[in-house]
Amino acid sequence: MIIGASGQIGTELCSYLRDKYGSHKVIASDIREGDDDLMEAGPFEIVDAMDAEAIEDVVIRYEITDVYMMAAMLSATGEKFPMKAWNLNMTSLFNVLKLAKEGKIEKLFWPSSIAVFGPSTPKHDTPQQTIMEPTTVYGISKQTGERWCEYYHRKYGVDVRSLRYPGLISYKTPPGGGTTDYAVDIYHKALKHGRYVSFLKEGTALPMMFMDDAIRATVDLMEAPAEKIKVRSAYNLSAMSFAPEEIAESIKAHIPDFSIEYEPDFRQEIADSWPSSIDDSEARNDWGWQHEYSLADMTAEIIKNLKIRNA
Ligand code: SER
Repeated sequence: MIIGASGQIGTELCSYLRDKYGSHKVIASDIREGDDDLMEAGPFEIVDAMDAEAIEDVVIRYEITDVYMMAAMLSATGEKFPMKAWNLNMTSLFNVLKLAKEGKIEKLFWPSSIAVFGPSTPKHDTPQQTIMEPTTVYGISKQTGERWCEYYHRKYGVDVRSLRYPGLISYKTPPGGGTTDYAVDIYHKALKHGRYVSFLKEGTALPMMFMDDAIRATVDLMEAPAEKIKVRSAYNLSAMSFAPEEIAESIKAHIPDFSIEYEPDFRQEIADSWPSSIDDSEARNDWGWQHEYSLADMTAEIIKNLKIRNA
């Protein structure tokens, strides 16, 4: 069961798992319907991630073993609605931790984020274990969630697994409310208008990853034998790091006239509080994580596919 299946990660996770295990084996759910492909490909249930009973009902009805809890309010929107973000991000997690504790599901995936880090964290090659003083509500909810995941594992033997996703770049489903999402929008604007106004300034390097890599990491982590999972809070996960001018350069290789301007807003402060690169050697050592896509590969793939789609 995927909760938040209509969202940016959920949509692609759902289609990956359906290709792998068969459409009827993967139950998509969300508070709203997803795109046509998602809705037509297999079972879908309207479920509010805040509604424990509704989740349990689907779990029992479909004999769910594994749950991916992908519903969340992201960093930039969270700063506008702090209590709403806190309530959604924590209640949704507790709803599924409880089901796992009661033995109603076997395995749980819950995403964490680079937002667990803050301004006092070492900025370059941020290690797995380090100072974590997040300044956003989103980051506070993810860091707290990590602590609870580890607690439920240690205390109740819950098989919960988690990744600290970097900024995730996709072109199939639009993202919503993240600080790293400029790096999604830029491709659409490059193709449509040949220019982009970035809400982050030049030199703001952040850890990023192509969605295909993130989905593969998620499913690989969930399929790894339990004894290989040594981190039960959340694993650092990394692929590439870039600043706005670097993604702009990679786009120029395909659209030579493309131009970028900078008009930083409140999201600059959020970005400045996060690491610029991540050391994910524990994920690589423990369960064999390896990324595939570089910035150049990702840009080529996205531009090729958006051109086909827009044609
Ligand atoms: N990409 C997310 C955000 O920017 C971080 O997890 O909010």
